[in-house]
Amino acid sequence: MKAIILCAGKGTRLRPLTYTSAKHLIPLANKPALEYGIEKIKECGIDEIGIIIGEETGEDIKREIGDGQKFGIKISYIMQKEPLGLAHAVKVSRDFLKDEPFLMYLGDNLLKNNISQYRKKFEEGKKQAFVLLTHVDNPQAFGIVELKDKKIVRMVEKPKDPPTDLALIGVYFFDKAIHQAIDNIKPSGRGELEITDAVQWLVDNQYDVEAEVIEGWWKDTGKPEDIIEANRLILEDIPRDLTSAIIDTKSKVFGRVNLAKNVEIINSTILGPVVIGENAKIINSYIGPFTSLSEGVTVENGEVEYSVVMSNTYIENVKCRMQNCLIGKDVHIYRSGEMPRVHEFILADDSSVRLI
Ligand code: G1P
Repeated sequence: MKAIILCAGKGTRLRPLTYTSAKHLIPLANKPALEYGIEKIKECGIDEIGIIIGEETGEDIKREIGDGQKFGIKISYIMQKEPLGLAHAVKVSRDFLKDEPFLMYLGDNLLKNNISQYRKKFEEGKKQAFVLLTHVDNPQAFGIVELKDKKIVRMVEKPKDPPTDLALIGVYFFDKAIHQAIDNIKPSGRGELEITDAVQWLVDNQYDVEAEVIEGWWKDTGKPEDIIEANRLILEDIPRDLTSAIIDTKSKVFGRVNLAKNVEIINSTILGPVVIGENAKIINSYIGPFTSLSEGVTVENGEVEYSVVMSNTYIENVKCRMQNCLIGKDVHIYRSGEMPRVHEFILADDSSVRLI
């Protein structure tokens, strides 16, 4: 069985970060979000993945993820020039998929648990489609499913008046019947070929389509607050490891804190779960729970918690605690102490700053 991971989306809700990089490469616990998906797919015994990329961020994804060697699998790339929907992504993957059954995985999905058991159920049940679901608080934002004895009765994409709270999480197992379904659907109101409509076509034409509600957490990482929360969920499981860091005697490191090579902790308190990347420096500072600092970050005379800070950012003399922050690469946040006492900003389009 092969898999496709859909990564062509532009990530507009994650601007300005997505002006310069793909949303799928935003680090969670210092690892690109997409790598968690690749690992999940590998765990369920699939060793050939096609990643669907778009023109804007495709090259970045290729450069970062490569040909799969570092994961011990084969990865190839399929260009989806225009964002014409999830079912359209399957269409452009046709040569890669041939007539084999496959797993379709949305690249901004994050799952706690292994999906091997679902692959097994799909294959043993000889179903045409098997989709995974979870209960959500905001069903208007997802593809929603109505079930009868695990069989899908109706699926509707982002309904105004949701019939249930059971959302498609973006993990779908299909056999070749889905290609025929896609050839038979028309673009939706938003101009996209919806995979939801294709699965509904299978249901309407009496194919065997089942669904199952997953256990464990699931997170869609489309918005800044989702990234910070997904980072928290992943940090819940990190091991403590201080062995490669340099920690002075005035510093205190509590709980599950994972420090990479050459991290320096000087006169500071770190309260886990926290992960800090290579060559980062924490000086006279506090780093609080659920924070990931990428390589080369410096925090000096500052306090940061429940945040994601990307590589080589420099935070210096910030008097109030920074919380709920998602900060890109090479950013400089500092207090100058000079007169006049003004705030001075150089911010990219779509940035957001909250002052007290
Ligand atoms: C897509 C699907 C939707 C699914 C969701 C899961 O929506 O169209 O059915 O519930 O992913 O994240 P999107 O996130 O592209 O709006």
